[in-house]
This record gives sequence, structure tokens and C-alpha cells, in this order.
Amino acid sequence: MIKSRVSATFQDAGALYDYMGRAPLEYDARDNVSLVNLGYWIGLSSFAKGHLSRSNHALFYLVCKNAWLSEIDEFVADIGCGFGDVAVLCAKNFNCPNVIGINISQYQIDRSIEKVALHNLQHRVTIKNMSATDLQLADNSVDKMICTEAAFHFDSRADFFREAYRTLKRGGILSLADMVYNQPRNALEKIILPRLQDGLFIPSANIYGMAEYIGKIMEAGFEIIEAKNITSHVRPYFRRWAISHPVNLVINRKISWIISTIGFLVYPWEYMYLVAKKP
Ligand SMILES: C[S@@+](CC[C@H](N)C(=O)[O-])C[C@H]1O[C@@H](n2cnc3c(N)ncnc32)[C@H](O)[C@@H]1O
Repeated sequence: MIKSRVSATFQDAGALYDYMGRAPLEYDARDNVSLVNLGYWIGLSSFAKGHLSRSNHALFYLVCKNAWLSEIDEFVADIGCGFGDVAVLCAKNFNCPNVIGINISQYQIDRSIEKVALHNLQHRVTIKNMSATDLQLADNSVDKMICTEAAFHFDSRADFFREAYRTLKRGGILSLADMVYNQPRNALEKIILPRLQDGLFIPSANIYGMAEYIGKIMEAGFEIIEAKNITSHVRPYFRRWAISHPVNLVINRKISWIISTIGFLVYPWEYMYLVAKKP
């Protein structure tokens, strides 16, 4: 099926991150982490130094803990793996023996491979260039699948749910944290949304609220274990962080891209985590 073009600016979400990845929101030199998610801000402050980094780690942990990762999970897949931090975390902190990080940004893949080598985990963690909507993984082969703030980019997210269902083993868990874009409610939101879709590579097929989101996961065959709206622990904190760190937001970015995505700070996107099981 030929899909309509999502973005005039970026050919795919990989091109967006090849561009964005070179100037991450914040670089945490202590553990060589480049931050590319909005964070889970429990007990943290938008104004304290280093707390964006801590909120990113908190989000990683939330998604991993929701998946009940452990050494008995033979094969774990991190979909939309950013700079490889979660794949490393699964191997190092959750003792998973065999982890694959999947991404379509070649820039991030190269950095992820370096990160894995830095931790001497090449025998347990591999990083591959493939799309979440066309996973080159065997049917019924994955024990746990995690996906942190990436599924809103997938073209489409529902296609990814079907791939997740196909590749997970029976009893396998899909643990997600994701941004949710509802349909615009007024004239201003109608102007902002297409610009965000263009600048942040968000396919129109993914514009729906949480109830429909849960419905699409169930349509793919999953049982929902838990779904929680955590917007209040993400959106206000990240916005305060953004407003208090304008230089981090604009540095090395094109002015046209900044203008098209500035609506991100006012559009009422929501944030959720979800845990589902393949029966
Ligand atoms: C907001 S970043 C989150 C990265 C990481 N999970 C984290 O939380 O730090 C979204 C990630 O999804 C990846 N991505 C976007 N579309 C993808 C696709 N179709 N298949 C695989 N990865 C994709 C991007 O390249 C990027 O690494």
C-alpha cells in the first residue's frame, strides 16, 4: 500500500533523528547519555541541573520494570532504541542475556553500537537498522518488547502493534511509553498540528486519543494489563524545563524547524504508559 507522505521536511523518522540526534536536548557526561525523551518527573524539578537526565532514566526504568525484565527473558527487543541506553540497561541492570535495539536513524545506530562497545556488551546486545513496522524477526521469537516514546512516529503505530504481536512469544509482554496526539479541538490546534506532524514526523494515522489507542492494541490481539495516563508527570515538567533552557532547544537547529515545532509547547498532547500481553 502506498502511504501518503508524512512530512515534507523529513523522508522518515530516521532522517529526523539523524538531524536532531546531533544536538540532543542535553548531554549527560557522567554516563555518556544523550537524552531524547521527555522524561518521567517524579520527585524531580524542571529547574534543577541534571534532572532532565534523571527523568529520562526514570522513564527508561518505568518501561523496563513494567515489562518485568529479568535474566529468564531469552530475547528482549527495544524498538526505537535512541542512543542504545535502554538496550544496555536491559543487559546490565536487568541481566537480560540477549537484547536487540532497533532503530532507523543511522546516526543513532552508530552511536548505539559505540555505547554497547563501551560497556563491553557486544556478545549480549546487538543494534540493527530496521523499521518497527517491518521487523526482521521470526514469529513467536521475542520474550519482551519495550518501546519508549517512539511509537507515535511509526507509520503506522497500528502496523507496529501487529508486528509486535507476530514476533512476541505467547505470554510475551509489550511495554510502551508513548506520546498521544488527539484530534485538534479548535482553530489554533488545527493550525499547529500539521506543523508538528511535519517537523516531528507524526503520521496522520496516529492521531487519536488513549481509548482508541487501547482499542488498536486489543485489535492486534493483545490483552491489556495496565494503561495509565501519566501526562501530569511529563508535560508540565518538560515544558517548564524547555522554557527555562531555550538555548538547549534551539542550538544547532534550523530556524524553520524551530518555528514549525514551537507549537509543541502548547498543543495538548498527552502521555501514557501501557503494558499488554500476547495471550
Ligand atoms: C523520541 S526518540 C526515543 C528514543 C529512546 N527510546 C529514548 O527514550 O531515549 C524516538 C526513537 O524512535 C526511532 N524511530 C522512529 N521511527 C522508527 C521506526 N519506524 N522504526 C524504528 N525506530 C524508529 C527514532 O529514530 C528514535 O530513536
